[in-house]
Amino acid sequence: MTTDGLALATRGLQKRYGSRPALAGLDLSVPTGVVYGFLGPNGAGKTTTMRLLTGLIHPDAGSIEVLGRPFGRRDRHRLFEVGALIESPSFYPYLNGRENLRALAATGAPVSGARIEELLELVGLRDRAKDKVQTYSLGMKQRLGIAAALLSDPRLLLLDEPANGLDPAGIVAMRETLRHLASTGKTVFVSSHVLGEVQQLADVIGIIAAGRLVREGPIGELLHGEGEVRVRVAADQVEPARTILGGLATPDAVSDGADGDGWLAVRIGAGRAADVNRALAGAGIFASGLESGSDLESLFLELTQGDGSGGHEGTFFGVAGGSR
Ligand SMILES: Nc1ncnc2c1ncn2[C@@H]1O[C@H](COP(=O)(O)OP(=O)(O)OP(=O)(O)O)[C@@H](O)[C@H]1O
Ligand SMILES: [Mg+2]
Repeated sequence: MTTDGLALATRGLQKRYGSRPALAGLDLSVPTGVVYGFLGPNGAGKTTTMRLLTGLIHPDAGSIEVLGRPFGRRDRHRLFEVGALIESPSFYPYLNGRENLRALAATGAPVSGARIEELLELVGLRDRAKDKVQTYSLGMKQRLGIAAALLSDPRLLLLDEPANGLDPAGIVAMRETLRHLASTGKTVFVSSHVLGEVQQLADVIGIIAAGRLVREGPIGELLHGEGEVRVRVAADQVEPARTILGGLATPDAVSDGADGDGWLAVRIGAGRAADVNRALAGAGIFASGLESGSDLESLFLELTQGDGSGGHEGTFFGVAGGSR
């Protein structure tokens, strides 16, 4: 597997804590200049991966390449090229936001006062820069953490669940900031356990579960390639509808919907709900229900079901059409 042109790559990465495997051979390929959404349910291994990528812990097996060069045990000094926010950022509680950034800057390459002001502005903390960090809310600390990760103007940014604790306006602002960074050629690797969040932010996504990669690629391809459209029709129209749907795709792409009760599902691009509706209506069959979901959405719903971490019913199917 080639890693040319990748800002970040892992091959066969393994890590266990005691007898518990956290990563079981992880292969990630992160292209340069994109926002890469690193998605997985709680306990999937996201933070473990981030810790390995920043040399906080070391792998049991496998390799890491950062910005085109191997990243090994003795390469922590190279992290000036990388900005990272992993888990809750730690700050001096008795110093204010500005002083904390100055203190952090003092430990690395020189950073101008103007740069610090620019970052405070960027993360919306300028008005609170004089307040002690111990008086900050969770979201404000998270914002300061993002500013800290950006201090050295890194080419690669690693952010572990940066949306944690941010309010909706904060999430929008963060998304704009990260998109802007990618537009200037930087690579942003950002983890999340919420598909919807990543969908709006990332160019490329990688989904992990139980320490392994289960899907990776450009988000457009993953969202619109595979998928299904589901329709509900009257009981006496199920058979004629089945024939029409089979004509749109192939007969074996049509199945009885999981919900029974007049629902049919056809494996066809999730973006083709309108085509399905039109074809049925053209034959005088009017659907009483129509919804669609991509393969990715179903996959992620399955992965996150029952872990109590935001796999709310309907969330992932809400975009293309109604919840099931
Ligand atoms: N310090 C540790 N000691 C023992 N086990 C750990 C430790 N850190 C993580 N683990 C285990 O490793 C696995 C992966 O954890 P990790 O924190 O990487 O997941 P995550 O994807 O970041 O989850 P979350 O979405 O909850 O942040 C889990 O089974 C977890 O219990
Ligand atoms: Mg984590």
